[in-house]
Amino acid sequence: MADYLIETKGLNVGYGPIHVIYDLDFKAPAGEVTVIVGPNGVGKTSLMKAIMGMITMYSGQVFFEGEDITKVPPHQRTMLGIGYMPQTGNIFSKLSVDDNLKMASYIMADKDLVADKREMVMNLFPRLKGYLKRDAGTLSGGERQMLAESMVLMRDPKVMLVDEPTAGLMPKLVTDVLKKLEEMAEATGLPIIIVEQRARRALEIGDYAYLMRGGVFTFEGSAEELLNHPLLNEMYLGAVEVHDLKTIRE
Ligand SMILES: Nc1ncnc2c1ncn2[C@@H]1O[C@H](COP(=O)(O)OP(=O)(O)OP(=O)(O)O)[C@@H](O)[C@H]1O
Ligand SMILES: [Mg+2]
Repeated sequence: MADYLIETKGLNVGYGPIHVIYDLDFKAPAGEVTVIVGPNGVGKTSLMKAIMGMITMYSGQVFFEGEDITKVPPHQRTMLGIGYMPQTGNIFSKLSVDDNLKMASYIMADKDLVADKREMVMNLFPRLKGYLKRDAGTLSGGERQMLAESMVLMRDPKVMLVDEPTAGLMPKLVTDVLKKLEEMAEATGLPIIIVEQRARRALEIGDYAYLMRGGVFTFEGSAEELLNHPLLNEMYLGAVEVHDLKTIRE
């Protein structure tokens, strides 16, 4: 078994001529919650897309459980067990909650496993049970995030990438959503990679952490160390727009 579930080596990524990630070495230790924090536009989502194979890489490699998957197409990465909750467009708002869960698992051949996963998800997010017939588009922000996470969990992933699970949520829900992720990680032993702008809150539930600025990591180490590191405060004061200050401090 590889030490790192997900690893990138010398990753260079961009959009056409716009280079956004530079020579990035990323490692997500097995069995841990890895948190990537950083202000807007530094390349966090682009890193997630590179791990999923959804973006053009200029150079570099992506590994899953020690195997080079750089050339593996996105849907096969999903089949290998890399679960991904994108930052936007992560549910089908015109379909019912029930149909969203079915869509998430229709590729799975093992129907007993699907039933098990469904039960697990309903226990984790009991509120969704009462909403199965509702259109997903009518759910609150927090409930949508629960559904989006459930859809990833339905596919029984070996690792879960979660891009900004608290985006647009009010402060009370932020705590609820992050606490649920922590609970889920503890209950299932599922390693999670969380991208968050709400740095402090996310680091509180994380084990391993990265701070990203301008397409590179300026810190890598334990989440606790980053929480107490001067670089985290600099992130608040640096190239951060004033209107972002509030959310990032939370
Ligand atoms: N499709 C695209 N075409 C061109 N540039 C893009 C595209 N997507 C992202 N970018 C640019 O790449 C850079 C990194 O974007 P990315 O979405 O990875 O940032 P992020 O750290 O996830 O930011 P946020 O916290 O706001 O979600 C930004 O400058 C962004 O404008
Ligand atoms: Mg992003």
